[in-house]
Amino acid sequence: MGSKVDSERLYFTERQTVQLDSFDCESWVLDIGGGGEGVIGQLLGDKVIAIDPLKTELEESPDTKSLKIVMDARELKFLDDAFNTVTCFFTMMYISSADKQKVFQEIYRVLKPDGELLMWDAKIPPCQNAQKDIYVVSLVIQLEQKRIETGYGTRWTGKGQDIDLYIQLGESAGLHVIEKQEEGETFFIRFRK
Ligand SMILES: C[S@@+](CC[C@H](N)C(=O)[O-])C[C@H]1O[C@@H](n2cnc3c(N)ncnc32)[C@H](O)[C@@H]1O
Repeated sequence: MGSKVDSERLYFTERQTVQLDSFDCESWVLDIGGGGEGVIGQLLGDKVIAIDPLKTELEESPDTKSLKIVMDARELKFLDDAFNTVTCFFTMMYISSADKQKVFQEIYRVLKPDGELLMWDAKIPPCQNAQKDIYVVSLVIQLEQKRIETGYGTRWTGKGQDIDLYIQLGESAGLHVIEKQEEGETFFIRFRK
């Protein structure tokens, strides 16, 4: 989050650990919301096209090897069937409920047939405390060569989110779940087009 926030408003989860292993990719990987820590860029380097609507998030990211483009996932500027792999690492929690379906439709459109969406995100319970309106997922991200400690904070609204919400959104866009994992307060879903 760019501006200073009153710490009284922050709710922190217990520290969650996400293990990320490098994977083979024949061509470009499109990373949605690849600003922030730029974790997928740090993992896969120059195989990644990282898009984010906030130029500053891309500029400040420690990932130096990916191709960074200012772009909004609600309207991707790529042709249909362009990518074998799309990643979304703790980005969906930043996208409003009203926009999530559109983003899944766009991801579906740019994936090649049999292409995959890999997404990691957090379970967020419904907000029941008006004073704490920012939900921060405390994370340790373990890459093969590096450990990243960070917190991803987002507005905490009434509804919350869980793995079932995203399975439903992905399936409504035409994707099929081929793998899912839940670990503590985080989850991973592998979808195929
Ligand atoms: C803080 S980052 C968190 C995770 C990030 N993937 C990483 O590796 O650290 C989430 C990013 O999602 C971006 N984002 C929000 N709405 C978006 C949208 N509509 N399209 C693409 N990215 C979006 C935010 O600008 C932010 O940089």
